[in-house]
Amino acid sequence: MGLRIEWWLAFGLGLFLIVGSEAQLEVGFYDDKCLLAEAIVRGEVTKAYLRDPGVAAGLIRMHFHDCFVRGCDGSVLIDSVPPNKAEKDSKINNPSLRGFEVIDNAKFRLEDICSGVVSCADIIAFAARDSVELTGGLGYDVPAGRRDGPISLASETFSSLPSPRIGLAQVTQAFTNKGLTQEDMVTLSGAHSIGRSHCSSFSNRLYGFNSTLGLDQDPSLDPNYAAHLKRRCPRSSRNRNVVVPMNPSSPNFLDNSYYQDILANRGLFTSDQTLSDPETLDQVIQNAEDGFTWNINFAAAMVKMGQIDVLTGDDGEIRFNCRRPN
Ligand code: HEM
Ligand SMILES: *[C@@H]1O[C@H](CO)[C@@H](O)[C@H](O)[C@H]1NC(C)=O
Repeated sequence: MGLRIEWWLAFGLGLFLIVGSEAQLEVGFYDDKCLLAEAIVRGEVTKAYLRDPGVAAGLIRMHFHDCFVRGCDGSVLIDSVPPNKAEKDSKINNPSLRGFEVIDNAKFRLEDICSGVVSCADIIAFAARDSVELTGGLGYDVPAGRRDGPISLASETFSSLPSPRIGLAQVTQAFTNKGLTQEDMVTLSGAHSIGRSHCSSFSNRLYGFNSTLGLDQDPSLDPNYAAHLKRRCPRSSRNRNVVVPMNPSSPNFLDNSYYQDILANRGLFTSDQTLSDPETLDQVIQNAEDGFTWNINFAAAMVKMGQIDVLTGDDGEIRFNCRRPN
């Protein structure tokens, strides 16, 4: 008898652990709480996208930057209140991160129909998914139920987000630090097939590359592409607002051309071109050849990224205004 009770206790605990670890987020989380939640986000993203297709790239990057800093908790949306400098005002995010007004608009409409129900973190996750679809990627279900965190510190962006000037080992480390694999990293980097970059993110490859070796320019960058980039980004330019498309052939189309660029030495950042390292080259070639499989993998990796350190249940809060904690 005692044995059987112990057995049931062990069985119950095992079941709890299995369910506990998988039931954190849930597809259709708002179906019984705010049925129109995902449709309203989609409507706002679509409206903004039709006005400026670049917001799709902005929202996909926003999800990445939210999830890597304190988990997917909407902390990237919080405004600075002196003396606190928030994530969005780190030089990694300001002025380059865009799409905040899309989240604000969606939140405003959601507060109108079901106040205090839909988290800002989930709105970002839905908006990123909608952006993937609008730019030609594969649609996917977004597990939801994230709650919002109240803390946002610019200083944490530097330790959590990878710099574009680093090589394979360091980029990989930034992802494994968050429970993602090197393979996830290579898959997700394909997001750089859309959007734009400021000159400062890659100027290290154009000017004063390595004085020890007497190299002004990164030899792993296609010289024709480098010449083109130098015209767009002159050495002495004081204009910090200049941007270039990261994938000039189709800057608004999320596809595997990113990997074809890498094979042609046209990866824009050091962190892009480093994927041609023997360690990851096979995956780059596969993705370059088979865009459909990459699309499927990309959707799955976005779902995985969307689970990083999420707050659920009674943790965190549901913000009324995504720009400030309640
Ligand atoms: C692997 C490490 C990564 C590094 C070092 C990196 C770095 C950067 C940098 C420096 C920019 C340009 C910012 C600017 O100067 O305007 C950028 C843009 C972008 N990144 Fe990444 N990124 C990485 C991974 C990712 C991931 C995982 C995603 C999403 C899944 C992503 C999505 C984007 C998008 C969509 C843009 C274009 C943004 C826009 O047009 O507004 N990146 N990234
Ligand atoms: C320049 O090249 C040398 C020799 O390969 C290397 O040790 C050094 O780290 C490089 N410096 C930079 C800034 O990349």
